[in-house]
Amino acid sequence: MKKLVQDHKEIFIEQLLELLKIPSISADRQYKEEVKKTALWIKNALNDIGCSTVQLYETEGHPIVYGEIRTADKAPTVLVYGHYDVQPPDPLELWDSPPFEPVIKKTELHPNGAIFARGACDDKGQMFMHLKAIELLMKKNALNCNVKFVIEGEEEVGSDHLEKFITDHKSMLQSDIILISDTGINSIENPAITTGLRGLSYMEVTVTGPNRDLHSGLYGGTVANPINVLCEMIASLHDENKRVNIPGFYDRVVEISETERQKMNENGTDDNSFKNAIGIEAVAGEKGYSILERRSIRPTLDVNGIWGGYTGEGAKTVIASKAHAKISMRLVPDQDWKTISQLFEKHFRSIAPQGVKIDVTTHHGGSAYVTPTDSLAYKAAEKAYHEVFGTIPHAKRDGGSIPIVPMFEKVLGSKTLLMGFGLDSDAIHSPNEHYGIDNFLKGIETLTLFYPYFTTLHQK
Ligand code: BES
Ligand code: MN
Ligand code: MN
Repeated sequence: MKKLVQDHKEIFIEQLLELLKIPSISADRQYKEEVKKTALWIKNALNDIGCSTVQLYETEGHPIVYGEIRTADKAPTVLVYGHYDVQPPDPLELWDSPPFEPVIKKTELHPNGAIFARGACDDKGQMFMHLKAIELLMKKNALNCNVKFVIEGEEEVGSDHLEKFITDHKSMLQSDIILISDTGINSIENPAITTGLRGLSYMEVTVTGPNRDLHSGLYGGTVANPINVLCEMIASLHDENKRVNIPGFYDRVVEISETERQKMNENGTDDNSFKNAIGIEAVAGEKGYSILERRSIRPTLDVNGIWGGYTGEGAKTVIASKAHAKISMRLVPDQDWKTISQLFEKHFRSIAPQGVKIDVTTHHGGSAYVTPTDSLAYKAAEKAYHEVFGTIPHAKRDGGSIPIVPMFEKVLGSKTLLMGFGLDSDAIHSPNEHYGIDNFLKGIETLTLFYPYFTTLHQK
């Protein structure tokens, strides 16, 4: 398979570059047509690799693309999920090359080159690996399982319309395993299979003080300044041990056993390379936990954006009427995201001083997910990674979220296997996002092995 992948290298990369040129920014209304264009591109690509059924499903948001390849009724079915939408690329000035004009550049970590573009890793590049792996298997007449594709365009904005779609198409979407490449490995030398994702609860808050902006000389010192108040309120959301200070927040958190913690920490990055990679001199976080634990098995709270008052050039003396912040909480089993959102709101209102009004809205959310390591799918994946990377992949819990994964289990009753190939350094969601050519090619190779291994194990 390695040779076959190598033989198709140029054409696969060329196709991916084409896909990366379409700015499928799901969050921005102005790009609605581009998002649609991307969906149609995926639809064509699914046709080209030999799907018998391909359909574009319109939703109230962005379209969902569905494809299906049937080999035999008795064969197992793999449902591949991925997303073709991307995060907004801003701030544009921090990109070394335009986000939707992909270029291949060599870097220290990627001596064989990496593709720089928004979506290169998250998730166009990783999703596209499945199409190409299936294409190669079809060409070699070696595809012996049924495959279904669900490629959506709203993952980066919370998958709002996917739940209805899967609920409405339960029988069409039945499978033996759901397979996703939208997570990461530690390094090309030390691959991993992701066994967990954190949940998410995303809030927006507004603090309103006086009914208009005020002169800070005439009124300063006499009114609760919404920005000062918001900062104090936010500061109080963590205690001195950097634990989240919301009553009930930890009530349902599953604590991991000491042995399990020890085992997972064997594969943590050392503190110095972690700090150097992101240019900080000290780490922060919940007392009593390692970096790895803080970013995978512990729940957190972070401000994602904060604004209000005068932020233009120079100085303007003003007390703003309003201050705003966007706050996310990453969740772990068994925290329920809706409960956490309610606890947040209740607490946030309760700590407001007199003289301000509080508004709280809940954006999207989702639960955490943990997948078993003793399943057939996991074993097949382990074998495939081992063969391609030359080493047994370790199990790793990731800090990011894919809210549809627990939803799949709830609605469709299927488990998900997370076979990611990205690196933390790929700068997903950041300027200069990229995806290593080796990661892309090795990913395809691993997937071409996974499908037949899974089928064989399944039929034993
Ligand atoms: N692919 C990421 C999630 C991810 C990345 C998980 C790396 C594990 C490792 C996904 O596209 C993403 O960005 N999810 C969002 C949540 C969504 C509701 C906006 C996230 O985690 O912030
Ligand atoms: Mn993603
Ligand atoms: Mn993402």
